[in-house]
Amino acid sequence: MTSTLLATHDLRVEVNGIPILSGIDIEFEQGMVYAVLGPNASGKSTLAKTVMGLPEYRVTGGDILFEGKSILGKSITERAQLGISYAFQTPPAIQGVKLEDFICRICPDYQCKTDSEHFMGAMCSCKDELYEDFDRLGIKNLAQRDLNDGFSGGESKRSELFQVLSMRPRIMFLDEPDSGLDYDSLKTVGRELKSIREKKEVTMVIISHHRYVLEFLEVDKVFILQNGRVVYTGDMDDIPVLEKKGYERFLAEVMR
Ligand SMILES: Nc1ncnc2c1ncn2[C@@H]1O[C@H](COP(=O)(O)OP(=O)(O)O)[C@@H](O)[C@H]1O
Ligand SMILES: [Mg+2]
Repeated sequence: MTSTLLATHDLRVEVNGIPILSGIDIEFEQGMVYAVLGPNASGKSTLAKTVMGLPEYRVTGGDILFEGKSILGKSITERAQLGISYAFQTPPAIQGVKLEDFICRICPDYQCKTDSEHFMGAMCSCKDELYEDFDRLGIKNLAQRDLNDGFSGGESKRSELFQVLSMRPRIMFLDEPDSGLDYDSLKTVGRELKSIREKKEVTMVIISHHRYVLEFLEVDKVFILQNGRVVYTGDMDDIPVLEKKGYERFLAEVMR
């Protein structure tokens, strides 16, 4: 049985006094996978950042409900503690914070249960699992580097995905997780997301312009945003048609 994990009702958002979202009604169910598509500047990232609670994104109307309760009064930290997470389209660099230390700090699974020296850089067995996971995502070489600092486009996307997964989220908004990835990295990311999808524990909302990851994952539902509104709800079968026709023609035809 499925149940709604997160929903927006008539969500209206402005940035710097300019309206960006103009009444979004959307529901994300437990364990399902969604694609949020739409032309550039249609409001996709804004929707995800507003749900996460980034302060520039001012809610001027409507509501965001997590398990039926409004989260509008909650901080980013409180939302993250509920299990809401957002992987940035362009992940910010944080100098002075090593990827490995950051991951150990946010994820109890990688924290040494016995060795208080852990955060002082001591090697201990709890790191084996962490390094296996780094290796699976092809980012072992980044473990000792400052977070996203000088990472290539593809490296920062894989590192960002790993960070979000390490928070053990209940819902993940992945903002173009496939942009800048070469063919092999695309496969790595696709496989990782597919293995999460198979467990059906985490709700995934994937913002993307490419069909590879979406088809690989077999998304359950597709939403198309245009000018800050959901203008179309469909499924996987729409993706190749959309790719062929482009948004303008596709939407003109379906909205006729
Ligand atoms: N922090 C911001 N400051 C100013 N304008 C913003 C900001 N965030 C988003 N916008 C504007 O909101 C619109 C929607 O942006 P965005 O949600 O990033 O679109 P998408 O992700 O669909 O490409 C764009 O016109 C963009 O310039
Ligand atoms: Mg965007």
